[in-house]
Amino acid sequence: MSNIVSHNFNVCKSDREKIHQHKAFLIWFTGLSGSGKSTIANALESKLNSFNISSYTLDGDNVRFGICNDLTFSSEDRSENIRRIAEVSNLFVDAGIVTLACFISPYEKDREGVRKTVGSKNYIEVFINTSLDECERRDVKGLYKKARAGEINNMTGISDPYETPRCPDLEIDTSKYSVEESVERIFKFLEKRLYD
Ligand code: ADX
Repeated sequence: MSNIVSHNFNVCKSDREKIHQHKAFLIWFTGLSGSGKSTIANALESKLNSFNISSYTLDGDNVRFGICNDLTFSSEDRSENIRRIAEVSNLFVDAGIVTLACFISPYEKDREGVRKTVGSKNYIEVFINTSLDECERRDVKGLYKKARAGEINNMTGISDPYETPRCPDLEIDTSKYSVEESVERIFKFLEKRLYD
């Protein structure tokens, strides 16, 4: 980057965390479309909110209407999608906000990119593990049906890969846990990080 010099501002993340009275980090939900990422993140954010924790949720479907509305589902565009969200997440975390991000993020290298951007200590990866069969059975958005009919290309799990996370901080097998139980498990994991 030429002719750009970064400026150091007086107020930093830890100053903002003091005002919020908790630590800030990124909770990255990854999993197939329809796996339950947004549902679980939504319920978790309600719980965080009830404990006066400042939070914000970034969601794949939503950001693709705005900041990423120029991107397709090719592997290059998915990487660019995740790169932009990593940068946005980094700003939110620096602002002292517990940030939840729900993106399929099918490629290991892109998820590793997020970890690098926000820093390992600020990155919590939650793998929402729901089988393709189950996602396809639910088919809330009707996308799997369209993909099977050949009306959608690059559908994750059907005609595009999903690289299973190798060492997520948390794995939620949704065939074993209800939404409430999943939220409890994640919240327990976060509690010590929020106030350490
Ligand atoms: S990602 O791969 O780039 O991380 P992202 O999470 O932003 O994906 O968007 C996924 C959402 O876009 C899905 O939940 C689904 O509603 C919608 N979608 C539309 N086309 C596809 C596709 N080909 N593959 C996966 N999701 C798709």
